[in-house]
Amino acid sequence: QELKLNLEQIEKGGYPHFMLKEIYEQPQAIRDTFRGRMRENKGIVKMAGVDDHIDKFINAKRLVILACGTSWHAGLVAEYIIEELVRVPVEVEYASEFRYRNPVIEKDDVVIAISQSGETADTMAAMKLAKEKGAFVFGVCNVVGSSISREAHAGAYTHAGPEIGVASTKAFTTQITVLTLLGLKVAKAKGRISTSDFHMHLEELRLIPEKVEEALKSNDRVKEIAAVYKNASNCLYLGRGFNFPVALEGALKLKEISYIHAEGYPAAEMKHGPIALIDEQMPVVVIATRRGHYDKVVSNIQEIKSRKGKIIAIVTKGDVTVNELADHVIEVPEVMDSMSPLLTTIPLQLLSYHIAVMLGKNVDQPRNLAKSVTVE
Ligand code: G6P
Repeated sequence: QELKLNLEQIEKGGYPHFMLKEIYEQPQAIRDTFRGRMRENKGIVKMAGVDDHIDKFINAKRLVILACGTSWHAGLVAEYIIEELVRVPVEVEYASEFRYRNPVIEKDDVVIAISQSGETADTMAAMKLAKEKGAFVFGVCNVVGSSISREAHAGAYTHAGPEIGVASTKAFTTQITVLTLLGLKVAKAKGRISTSDFHMHLEELRLIPEKVEEALKSNDRVKEIAAVYKNASNCLYLGRGFNFPVALEGALKLKEISYIHAEGYPAAEMKHGPIALIDEQMPVVVIATRRGHYDKVVSNIQEIKSRKGKIIAIVTKGDVTVNELADHVIEVPEVMDSMSPLLTTIPLQLLSYHIAVMLGKNVDQPRNLAKSVTVE
């Protein structure tokens, strides 16, 4: 027993929980994911699984992404990124819904199954169905040799390293990294992106690990904010564009490990329902980075304020306007809009982590949840 405890301490590398360790591993995990794939000097992105089947990607009339949980959120971010870069429609499906509704799959469809564990039963069944219907299936998995990675026609691994905490963190950011590379690669192959734009994206991506380091420096500030809101019974997360899925993911993280009810919404949808919930008891986390529909988000913040909601805003470094309006701000470095999820998600992971720790919850193994759901 003692030996087991000691081993676990060593595995946690000095961190009190795997989740915190994994949050802090993100700069390196992202670097490991793009290492060897980004060849800036040659102006290429190398991904064997895409290179070997580039015609499939070039000829695809649409992409269908299948996933569950946090991987589904990464899929939503990828939808925004790939549509912008490649200009083909992307649909993101819950694997569990897709598998039971006789989905329409055309022969030129490319299906991307995203799964950290590579063992999620619904994702596996959905991808098998897509295969039966003639689609080309590409897997994005973290666990090497996992069932989904073997079942796929081709794929790309995220090189996040083992993720032990049930609440997914580094898998999410590395999935986004891989799918950004894939988007860039296909955009280039289809001639949808100029050489200078392509280089600019690679350069931005190369700087992401440093910027994630910077975002992690918000930890103390996030901890203070966590102390203020740890007893909330509800929490709303809002974001727009690339950061709408981040709002969903932030809310999921809080639910999973602190058991506080949380909902993520596209900020503008607030007026169609959630606004009715806002009062002085309600913390609202708003992602309000400068490049992403900033003015629109500012007016959403004003609407929340006039109903006395408490605003925790994730802003771009140096922000002035939201700083004046919000109750708390957390800064992240400036970055191009499409890559901001890699940064804005960091303080949200930390917020849920600290709240759960303060509430004395089992952060790494929350009740009722499993790391990999291999049954229906
Ligand atoms: C479970 C885990 C989540 C994960 C989801 C999908 O619910 O608790 O963290 O996002 O499964 O898992 P996958 O391994 O397919 O990404």
